Amino acid sequence: MLEVNGLCKRFGGFLAVNRVSFELRAGEILGLIGPNGSGKSTTFNLIAGTLRPSSGSIRLDGKEIAGLPAHAVCHQGVGRTFQIPRPFRKLSLLENVTLAAYYGEAGGIARSEAEHRAAEALEMVGLPSDRSASTNGLGAAALKKLELARALATRPRLLLADESLGGLDRAEMERAADLLGDIRSRVGITIIWVEHIMGVLMRVVDRVIVLDHGEKIFEGKPAEAAGDPRVAEVYLGKPKA
Ligand SMILES: Nc1ncnc2c1ncn2[C@@H]1O[C@H](COP(=O)(O)OP(=O)(O)O)[C@@H](O)[C@H]1O
Ligand SMILES: [Mg+2]
Repeated sequence: MLEVNGLCKRFGGFLAVNRVSFELRAGEILGLIGPNGSGKSTTFNLIAGTLRPSSGSIRLDGKEIAGLPAHAVCHQGVGRTFQIPRPFRKLSLLENVTLAAYYGEAGGIARSEAEHRAAEALEMVGLPSDRSASTNGLGAAALKKLELARALATRPRLLLADESLGGLDRAEMERAADLLGDIRSRVGITIIWVEHIMGVLMRVVDRVIVLDHGEKIFEGKPAEAAGDPRVAEVYLGKPKA
């Protein structure tokens, strides 16, 4: 479904993403992990069209999407969450997600249909979909769910989820991980899931890629990642000789 080839992103003299290549099959859930600053969000921003690659190619179902603007990538069926949720605070939950539903539809849709898609997305993540539900007082876990609902309301085939567990406690992390697994099986969506910690992500993903300093240092089964010497070095520090 997705083929990323030799992807690079330079910020001035700094290479944030360095020749990253990977493939993704439809229906798969791929974990993209790595320490803070390893280039995970930048990779997402390149795929989602928030940033233009310095070089490299990104093919979705064989079609080049690298360098397309974000709305065009969204209309090709790629939805994404942001690491830092920024909902419209003066709008209700339903209105926030309804806007996302409008954004996701290139040809325009009726308000009733946009609201229907929004309510469906809110229900899928377990947030209230009635008109009176507001964003006031939402905790970290609910804000992450709202991000997911906004992405899902665009009806993506490919979902890019950025740090859906950030700021959550252990129990919330478990529930959020199960939620992503559920969403995958319920709507048959393909997912790339970014997280800087390994933790619960490892029991949900089919495959994992590890980034370090913008480079892919590991790709394989979650169970093999922890035993890989380069991954261990990145996460646990260099072993003493
Ligand atoms: N717009 C930008 N301008 C300059 N440097 C950036 C920009 N965005 C990210 N970076 C840098 O690129 C590196 C990778 O960042 P990021 O992709 O956000 O990492 P991660 O999501 O893995 O924590 C970091 O060193 C970060 O400071
Ligand atoms: Mg990030």
